[in-house]
Amino acid sequence: MQRDGFKTRFGILAATLGSAVGLGNIWKFPYMTGENGGASFLLVYLLSTFLVGLPIMISELVLGRTAKANAITTYYQLPKKNKNFWSLIGIGGVAAAFLILAFYTDVAGWVYAYVYKTITANILSTNPEETSKTFGSLISTPLTSLFWQWLVLGVVGLIITMGASKGIERTTKKLMPLLFLFLVIIVVRSLTLPKAKEGLLFLFSPDFSKINAQVVLLAMGLAFFKLSIGMGTMTTYGSYFRDDANIPATATKVMLADLSVSLLAGLAIFPAVFTYGYEPQAGPSLLFITIPAIFASLPGGRIFMLLFFLLASFAATGAMLSLLEVPVAYFCESKKMSRTKATLLSIAILVALGATATLSFNVLKDVKFFNLNFFDLYDFISSNILLPVGGLLIALFAGWTWGKEKIFTTLSNYNTLNNQKIISLYYFVLKYITPILVFIILLKGLKLF
Ligand code: PHE
Repeated sequence: MQRDGFKTRFGILAATLGSAVGLGNIWKFPYMTGENGGASFLLVYLLSTFLVGLPIMISELVLGRTAKANAITTYYQLPKKNKNFWSLIGIGGVAAAFLILAFYTDVAGWVYAYVYKTITANILSTNPEETSKTFGSLISTPLTSLFWQWLVLGVVGLIITMGASKGIERTTKKLMPLLFLFLVIIVVRSLTLPKAKEGLLFLFSPDFSKINAQVVLLAMGLAFFKLSIGMGTMTTYGSYFRDDANIPATATKVMLADLSVSLLAGLAIFPAVFTYGYEPQAGPSLLFITIPAIFASLPGGRIFMLLFFLLASFAATGAMLSLLEVPVAYFCESKKMSRTKATLLSIAILVALGATATLSFNVLKDVKFFNLNFFDLYDFISSNILLPVGGLLIALFAGWTWGKEKIFTTLSNYNTLNNQKIISLYYFVLKYITPILVFIILLKGLKLF
């Protein structure tokens, strides 16, 4: 049977970008930047993106394309020795996909709910208390928040059953361009708010006293999360790449576009935070309580807010497709399930696991591990442990085990691309800089030494 894959160059870019751009950019990036000191956090984040994120993304894409297989099979098939050890990368990846989806579908549910709320009621207000109340009542009602999560799972599951080209590629090709357009419109609005300057200063002037080992780990974890690396998503997508795709160029474009979306999201949110007296440290609720204020004093504000949450739902959906594709591709190829069955099984697991995350804001709110509820725990374990460890192993495998020659031939598409210099630079960083940085940041950040 012929393996499905992305058909066009634009489709490859859109799907990969669709994976990278998501709630990580629109929801996580602004609130984490807000909680951890603004510009200094941004700087560490940028360094992690260039020195850790990009090299690992290129590696995953090329390994996946070479193996033409799901994440677990890729890391079993490519090594000549210690196959079982390396395939742990894929196994950890499938576990990470479920953990991330468990809380991600919850947040995506809030986004879908805000689309609905914006249409059916007037929830715009510049009063922090009021917008916090609207958000609070959504997450504290068990059945309502579960309902939205299930809806999200249904939508994502449906698209996934259609396959890589007809489902993922076709959807993301339409959604990605719209997302950019909407975001630019919203930023223009936000930058014309009275205290826009304070928001910009917060985002762009660094306060280095806020940086410590934990913050560095958080920034690196965010880079992993945002670029969808360290867990086999990019490996799986790489396996759908055409053989003539220019991987270093595609990865660089995706990284830059992903960065722009995050910065745009920051530019959209922080001017409003300062204009209306919100707390930049509001945490995960930041997006949901500030956006209704941005548009409150604007003619046609409700339409703009609708655009914004639609956009966020597109971004979230594209990212969830790529997360769900990791286990689904594995179940189909290695367990010989049909796509529908593989999807149903994954969704069933997520209904159960996801409920623990969603209910951690209401019925399960007193259940804590290391002082974290289920939602925060899944987030912490995936972003700050599983993805960096996976990324470290991928860098070690690509840089030290797979071999220089394979890297050079595959990344140059068997010498049809004239990109030897770029590959040399990538290879050097991947081999000597990326693994050392990840290793030290992990140990220090987790206080292991
Ligand atoms: N990159 C996605 C986002 O920013 C999330 C994601 C993480 C997707 C890991 C796939 C794998 O929202």
